[in-house]
Amino acid sequence: MKKVVITGIKPTGIAHIGNLFGALKPAIEMANNPEYACYYFIADYHALNYIKNADELKANTKDLVCTLLALGMDKENIVLYKQSDIAEVTELTWLLSGITPKGLLNRAHAYKAKVEEATSAGADPDSLVNMGLFNYPLLMAADILMLNTSLVPVGADQKQHVEMARDIAGYFNKTYKNTFVVPQEIINKDVGTIFGTDGRKMSKSYNNIIPIFAEENKLKKLIMSIKTDSSLPTEPKPLDCAVMNLFKLFATEKEYNAEVKKYKKGLSWAEAKTDLFNLINDYIAPMRQKYNYYKEHYDIAEAMLYKNAQKVKKIAGETLARARKAVGIE
Ligand code: TRP
Repeated sequence: MKKVVITGIKPTGIAHIGNLFGALKPAIEMANNPEYACYYFIADYHALNYIKNADELKANTKDLVCTLLALGMDKENIVLYKQSDIAEVTELTWLLSGITPKGLLNRAHAYKAKVEEATSAGADPDSLVNMGLFNYPLLMAADILMLNTSLVPVGADQKQHVEMARDIAGYFNKTYKNTFVVPQEIINKDVGTIFGTDGRKMSKSYNNIIPIFAEENKLKKLIMSIKTDSSLPTEPKPLDCAVMNLFKLFATEKEYNAEVKKYKKGLSWAEAKTDLFNLINDYIAPMRQKYNYYKEHYDIAEAMLYKNAQKVKKIAGETLARARKAVGIE
């Protein structure tokens, strides 16, 4: 039996180079292991906590679907689906809520941060918290337990949520009968800080991202705008800079070593940035073509999601039936 691997990706913004190396590439590579059955999904129910505009959620979802398919999630070895196609997950969330202590969810970092923010502003502790945010780990537990998941690859920030899913599975299995596989997190390797165009960590909230599939001219413009020091064109350049930081991510060892030589000898920032642009663009171009194809033929992407949802619903339905039976609802 293959081990089930699951991860969810929220459609809360345009996927950027930081996301690519931090989470997406490792997830796609994991699927090359024949011992794993990989199920990856667009966590649109989770995104409702952050996005309160229907058009924005739709556009983000479409963009993320096309991005993930273009990056390789359209292969046989990955089942990509949309969380909201699996309504069973919401029912399972309810069955799990009956055995989940409120105190467990009180300890969630995201919830605590909001309470702290409100309290330090002198407001009611829960004034920034809606039930979706509070119950976020519970829905995530249902995502995971639904498919008999063994492994959950996530960033370090999500470790606590997977631990909670494990606790919740344990409470349920103990209160009723053994129903759920108990999952384990795999923390994505730390790729170090990936710099954005302003030299700070690449992040949507800093407005400094380089989207994975920015079109060619836009990509060039963004790369040319990367903040650099004011050294002269002939002077050596520091390796510890945003341009080289990004170069290293995309380069082979040989390409990296050759560029390091140029930096040490001295080159203009314009040249360094042009090298970076060419490197990234060559890497991205074939996938960008796929991305554009799926965007223009979104019905093809939707048909894949639909087909995959049927596969997932079958497993989810079986798990849900087992859980309903365990609690005494049939
Ligand atoms: N909470 C995850 C995040 O913010 C997304 C997510 C939702 C998820 N459900 C999941 C990840 C289940 C792993 C498994 O990144």
